[in-house]
Amino acid sequence: MRTIDWKEIEKNIENGRFPQWLVTDPEIYELEKERIFGRTWQFLAHESELKEPGSFVTRMMVDDPIILVKNKNGEINAFLNSCSHRGVRLCTEDYGNKKAFSCPYHGWTYNLNGELIGVVAGNKVFGESMDKSEWGLRPVPRVESYQGMIFGNLDPDAMSLEDYLGEMKWYFDIMLGRSDGGMEVRGVPQRWVAKANWKMTSENFAADPYHVQTTHRSAVELKLTPSDPLYASYGHQVVLSNGHGINVITSATGRSNNIYQGMPESMWPMFEKNLNKEQLDIFSRVQNFVGGVFPNLSFLSSCSGTEGTKYNHLQFRVWRPLGPDQVEIWVWYMIDKALPEDYKEKSYKGFIATFGAAGTLEQDDTENWARIVEASQGLMARDRNLSYNNMLNYLMGLDNLDPDENFPGPGKAYPTCYTDHIARSMHKYWLELITKEPEVKSHE
Ligand code: FES
Ligand SMILES: [Fe+2]
Repeated sequence: MRTIDWKEIEKNIENGRFPQWLVTDPEIYELEKERIFGRTWQFLAHESELKEPGSFVTRMMVDDPIILVKNKNGEINAFLNSCSHRGVRLCTEDYGNKKAFSCPYHGWTYNLNGELIGVVAGNKVFGESMDKSEWGLRPVPRVESYQGMIFGNLDPDAMSLEDYLGEMKWYFDIMLGRSDGGMEVRGVPQRWVAKANWKMTSENFAADPYHVQTTHRSAVELKLTPSDPLYASYGHQVVLSNGHGINVITSATGRSNNIYQGMPESMWPMFEKNLNKEQLDIFSRVQNFVGGVFPNLSFLSSCSGTEGTKYNHLQFRVWRPLGPDQVEIWVWYMIDKALPEDYKEKSYKGFIATFGAAGTLEQDDTENWARIVEASQGLMARDRNLSYNNMLNYLMGLDNLDPDENFPGPGKAYPTCYTDHIARSMHKYWLELITKEPEVKSHE
């Protein structure tokens, strides 16, 4: 097999092309795990999921099982969910509340700070010399949060979460910080497994409104969305730092019919208090925000409803890779805590009907993602020599679109969402990380 020619890949990415063999190549996948997922901030939970001391959730950072738990002081700790004795998975529940974690294998017990506090038959079998403080749970090296969103990073030397999010914080403030009391997760995150590659699912949300009118044709036929082929193009595609991006989708008139995404008027003064002029301008006009935080966190803030009236909701998703051709999809439904219960319930129903595991729009996308990996695993598509011109096309807007200098938000904003600017920026950041050799750490 030919060795990887990174220079050639770089040239292709610069020119809006992505070699198809990179999609599901097993060697590339191993590098992605080490050099991309091992270094970037991974979303773990929203703080509303951990209400009381002792509240915990279990999550995955690709292959690393993680426990997140609130201690008695209200601080949130994150540990590898693996017992320090023989490595068994310590906590097998998805969520709950505990005073301590007890291992199912030999019964070692850890407190909410991860300290080993109980050893069965303790000193009798281990003698006096074993120092329990050496055998606590192993913490995730970095845990930081922004607007209630808790992230972890396996790289102790990573830049701070706030630096990593960069310009995205401004848009997070609109979606997550507009209401007093912030957002809350309703129910537990839905999750299911799909045949797909994580790069393709991430791109679909962060960078691809172009698919909407074809893939989601059924929504047009049901008269849920208009038939205008440019429907999802109106607005701006905004390229942000570090491979992040957001599409601010409005309408042909430049504003949505639903002011502030259809939120009740009683909420508006609160938005006007919590957001600045530019943020309010965008929020008052937007129909849908859809975007992503590199590598594999996506979000969609939209209006949906099954019975005429539209209700806003915000969903976050993690595309957890299970291999080069499989993802575990995690979807958190979030809603403003300050909204009346009746609105929340109707909005939740709208979400389940469209983007829940069996939602109409969800099924349209899943089918395409499966077909991408199926068609990318044969000899032609996987050929590293590119003998079959096995290249994917990211040419949209490459040299025929200038940024709109009058867009009020940060980032580089292009005056249509039907462009591949975010996708190309994701590919560039992907390449930057995957080609960066790990540092050899000395043990001095
Ligand atoms: S593996 Fe946990 S107590 Fe032995
Ligand atoms: Fe879609």
